[in-house]
Amino acid sequence: MSGIRSTGNLHLGNYFGAIKNFLKMQKENNCYFFIADYHALTTHPKPGNLHGNIKQVLAEYLACGIDPEIATVFIQSDVPEVSELYLLLNMNAYVGELERTTSFKEKIRKQPDNINAALLTYPVLMAADIIIHKANKVPVGKDQEQHLEMTRRFARRFNMMYDVNYFPEPDAYNFGKQLVKIPGLDGTGKMGKSEGNGVFLADTPQEIKKKVMRAVTDTGPAKPGQEPSEPVKNLFTIMNVVSDQDTVKFFKEKHASCEIRYGDMKKQIAEDIIKFTEPIRSRINDILADEKYLSRVVSEGAEKARASASKTVREVREIIGYRSF
Ligand code: TRP
Repeated sequence: MSGIRSTGNLHLGNYFGAIKNFLKMQKENNCYFFIADYHALTTHPKPGNLHGNIKQVLAEYLACGIDPEIATVFIQSDVPEVSELYLLLNMNAYVGELERTTSFKEKIRKQPDNINAALLTYPVLMAADIIIHKANKVPVGKDQEQHLEMTRRFARRFNMMYDVNYFPEPDAYNFGKQLVKIPGLDGTGKMGKSEGNGVFLADTPQEIKKKVMRAVTDTGPAKPGQEPSEPVKNLFTIMNVVSDQDTVKFFKEKHASCEIRYGDMKKQIAEDIIKFTEPIRSRINDILADEKYLSRVVSEGAEKARASASKTVREVREIIGYRSF
């Protein structure tokens, strides 16, 4: 089970850090991938182009190879059952623990004029997303660990409260060594959308070239025996995922012998990023143009997700004690 933040425009960091693993996961598990478009409103209550954003993210994930034939791909707001489970779980979530959540504290700092109740109960909605499908594994990064911990707590509490062994406690999906952190082009940290240091899968070749050629490198040439500087190491990390190993070796040797020309290296990286992203970009455009296909994917996904979700909600209502007359 994985929730996808509903901001469009995936970058290379998203691809090598998460999507690549989703592609593997979907072959080996019964996966649910969804776009968290309810959660989106907690920070953007009046989005300018909600539908367009959702469509863009969906097309990008599909273009990367998320396969709706083998996984369940859906939009959160197409599954109203999740809001009922969220309501019921709220009875069992305490304001104190919600107020102590790191993400909540961060958000109230960032948006002091919009400390809405859904922001406080964000982890409850996320727990509902996950346990409504009785998921065992959730592929999330470090920033979501606390939310997952809370999900386990809400599941456990429900089981205790009603004296059942109904919800499993989900764990983070362990990618092992395969999780690659892609640095940004600004020589520091991690590639991110808000950092403005990324190459997007939907960027045109011209945009890619321009961004990569502007990437930070060293001020002077490499000196004998010297380790690559941080920005240069970062470029090698990017090269490692988009270029073939002979190319990486060639530039490593050039660096070691102090003959490297960073302009050449960046030209090579740009070329290889373009080679890698071009087919994805063209699939994004094809998918976006195919309204019929998108609408079929979304409605079939909703149908599969609702089948699983409504079964859970029916059973939960029963466990709590709601009966039909
Ligand atoms: N909180 C997640 C994020 O910011 C998004 C999310 C919402 C999610 N519901 C989820 C992730 C369920 C995994 C499972 O990335």
